Amino acid sequence: MDYELLGAQLQSFAEADNWYVPLMANAAALLFDALADVNWVGFYLLRGDRLVLGPFQGKVACIHIPLGKGVCGTAAQRDETQLVLDVHAFPGHIACDSASNSEIVVPIHRKGALKELNRRAVVAVLDIDSPVPNRFSEADRAGLEALVKVLEAHIDLDA
Ligand code: SME
Repeated sequence: MDYELLGAQLQSFAEADNWYVPLMANAAALLFDALADVNWVGFYLLRGDRLVLGPFQGKVACIHIPLGKGVCGTAAQRDETQLVLDVHAFPGHIACDSASNSEIVVPIHRKGALKELNRRAVVAVLDIDSPVPNRFSEADRAGLEALVKVLEAHIDLDA
């Protein structure tokens, strides 16, 4: 997968409009189209102590995920990418689409926030599901984390 090309496309979307609604919507569409063997690509946004469903591609999904629950809530709470080779072995995995067998969730941070505390606030996560077990590699992790950095550099999270 040419993540550099995807990053350039994401950058051009952000230059056209950096508001999170069109940017996340087109990012989900871009990734859903470009990545092989994925059945769900989308975003959850942190609102208080739970994640709320944002722009996505795929089947209807759960609307609220408490912080710390499921793969998404774990990624947001720990502020670390969760690369799950087998979702059925992940304690507390939330099955939105029963076709999903592996998953990767990357935290998204607000630009510049809490720098003085030497950490940045998680504001959302990027969630990608696959029907194929072991679908995501370390190269996917690195590529998707780089894409999230492009988003973080531009995204406007205002209402
Ligand atoms: N599987 C996720 C829930 C979101 S859906 O996959 C779209 C989780 O365990 O957090």
